Amino acid sequence: MTSPSNVAKFRITGGKALDGEVLISGAKNAALPILLCSVLTDEEVVLKRVPDLADVKTSFHLLTELGKACSYDAATNSAVLKGGVTSKVASYDLVKTMRASIMALGPLLAYAGQAEVSLPGGCAIGARPVDLHIKGLQAMGADIQLEDGYIKAVAPNGRLQGGHVIMDKVSVTGTENLMMAAALADGVTVIENAALEPEIVDLAVCLRKMGAQISGDGTSRIEICGVKKLHGCEHSVVADRIETGTYLIAGIATHGIVSCCGANPSTLETLLTKLRQANAVVDVDGDRITADMRGRVIKPVDIITAPHPGFPTDMQAQFTVMNALAEGVSSVTETIFENRFMHIAELNRMGAHLEIKGNTVICSGVSGLKGAQVMSSDLRASASLVIAGLAAEGITIVDRIYHMDRGYEHIESKIMGLGGSIERFY
Ligand code: EPZ
Repeated sequence: MTSPSNVAKFRITGGKALDGEVLISGAKNAALPILLCSVLTDEEVVLKRVPDLADVKTSFHLLTELGKACSYDAATNSAVLKGGVTSKVASYDLVKTMRASIMALGPLLAYAGQAEVSLPGGCAIGARPVDLHIKGLQAMGADIQLEDGYIKAVAPNGRLQGGHVIMDKVSVTGTENLMMAAALADGVTVIENAALEPEIVDLAVCLRKMGAQISGDGTSRIEICGVKKLHGCEHSVVADRIETGTYLIAGIATHGIVSCCGANPSTLETLLTKLRQANAVVDVDGDRITADMRGRVIKPVDIITAPHPGFPTDMQAQFTVMNALAEGVSSVTETIFENRFMHIAELNRMGAHLEIKGNTVICSGVSGLKGAQVMSSDLRASASLVIAGLAAEGITIVDRIYHMDRGYEHIESKIMGLGGSIERFY
């Protein structure tokens, strides 16, 4: 079943080894919280390396709806945001298209003393609850009601109080929401069991440039001493480690050689170790990472996803394509999300031998994949289908690629720059 003709698809002619360099964009998962942290000040925030993505466009819609003056130059990936918010409502229509909008809650509450943010629904990969965001803000004195599908939050007397938050589970955007809220609270907030992702550190760097007093970011204990006011700043978003990993794996799966430039290797150590275990020659030279798989056999590698610095769940689908083409049997275990195997059936339609057993996929490697019509279900699943199409013999049609447009800037031109054959059609 294919989508209506107004839904974009990719036509990929596979079987060619990728060969070349690709420039890595700013990280989607750093840009989204950093854009929203501009709510914490009415002064000018200048951001560089903001990737031209659907989710970034949605963030600008949300910020404009909140009353911020936003300008974005996609040619230079530069954004300028200024002015105070005039609304405290993040509507359902926006939140339903981008669940990261939940991160408007903390900044709105901290800056304006109140917020109304639509409860994000679930998504293809899981229920994606936000209870940890809410509990954390309540620990900072917020009065929160859930009404008509909205989170309605008020800070008594207009200001949050520093609190001691113990996160029941490691949550990336939960940690980010609370960091931003705590930056303007009265007193000290401690977040225990905080997420360690590099995007958390990048947000903390930006907040410190705005005058926030934050320490411990990148560890499981973050301490924030609230200040009365935050000022504007200029910040360049960290490189996208998931985009980097995606292109390295595309090079490996096609037995080519791909160099990612402008990358940040220190954020990818676990993945690079696993790529080497898969028999790729991986070279790191400053901000350039090269994976060379020419004339080499892919070896099977077991992976278990985990919070950073463990193996990233956002690389699980892409790595599974490598295991599908490896010489031998391996397992891929997903521990973060309850339904992140939507790509498995699609890969099997291309000739892979992948069997789901609970939260593990048993991968029996095959010598090659065959092009087929396949359907994207979520952002990283769509990336795995594109990689499989590039590695497969023949033509692959990937449907509903709007999922991929959410997280991969200039996909076609980057893949064509590596010698891949890909075109978008409707
Ligand atoms: C962030 O999502 C990323 N998104 C995700 O990337 C990434 O997969 C995920 O972290 C894990 O690394 C952004 O940063 C915008 P979580 P987030 O809160 O913060 C449970 C991509 O492909 N949980 O760390 O929403 C949750 O259900 C996207 O770029 C609660 O139970 O993920 C999950 O099982 C996909 N209650 C686990 O914690 C909560 O209140 C980790 O989720 C919050 C989360």
